Amino acid sequence: MIGGSGKRSWYERAGVRTGPRRLLGDELGTGRLFFPPDLVPYWDHPRVRELPERTRGEILARHLFHYLEFTTHFETRVVNRATDRIAGGRCGIDVDPETRLNAYRIYCDEGYHSLCSLDVIAQVSAASAVAVVPYDFEPFLTRLDQVGQRALPDAPALAQLLQVVVFETLITAILKDIPQNPRVLTIVRDTVREHAKDEGWHHVFFSQFFRELWAQQSRASRRRISRCLPGLIRSSLLPEQAPVRASLTRAGLGAEAVEEIMRDTYSHERVNTGIRAASRHTMRLFEETGVLGVPGASDAFAAAELLS
Ligand SMILES: [Fe+2]
Ligand SMILES: [Fe+2]
Repeated sequence: MIGGSGKRSWYERAGVRTGPRRLLGDELGTGRLFFPPDLVPYWDHPRVRELPERTRGEILARHLFHYLEFTTHFETRVVNRATDRIAGGRCGIDVDPETRLNAYRIYCDEGYHSLCSLDVIAQVSAASAVAVVPYDFEPFLTRLDQVGQRALPDAPALAQLLQVVVFETLITAILKDIPQNPRVLTIVRDTVREHAKDEGWHHVFFSQFFRELWAQQSRASRRRISRCLPGLIRSSLLPEQAPVRASLTRAGLGAEAVEEIMRDTYSHERVNTGIRAASRHTMRLFEETGVLGVPGASDAFAAAELLS
């Protein structure tokens, strides 16, 4: 069985079964922040620093909205696309009935995370009067799917499973840091804390699932998988720049200033450092399972600048 049971089971303790609906209440105006500034990479740029205080607050709100919008789409359209295959016994890997049940538990968790994320956006936007900038998930999804289409053109289901293994084993600073930050709105901290707790279980499930998947692959398939994974890690973690541009433009910055901020903030080196930090657990999983031992694999990971 993949995913654990007994004390380690999240069945009784998952947010969807235990968490109350989080409400903003009247916390706006008490000085609490929408999002931690140190997790907003362009926050300290001189062009952003010189903006009026109220505009800077709105930038933090839009950064929160973007994070939550991304989560809303990603959970249902990417994680649950693959989780449904595992739960339904259609993933191409032999899994036992208890593993399928655990996959359906994850499916419910992720649907719930989408719901909570959109709920927070609606509440915060209504109370703060900061408008939500329309968000398009399609470019991210297209880029992510293209990695699989190129490396595994005849195995779309396998590519989707690998996308989720990668994403569910990444450790992002957002899930780790926001719950600890007392300067941030309680609704945001509580929602992220509950999400992070569920993701801890998912991390275990998908690490074990990958070990099982890997064990069942032929040598040829392992070779192709090892070529696909570096691209999946990169495309999962490359920052989405369009929403940032849109937010800075709404803040009243001209096209030239926006481009200057983007250039300075998302330099090749800074982006790569962030990708390596967030993927260290995923990389450890691939080391332990022997992915990096496949001939040519470490060259592929090195070419994607994932080895430090
Ligand atoms: Fe989730
Ligand atoms: Fe998850």
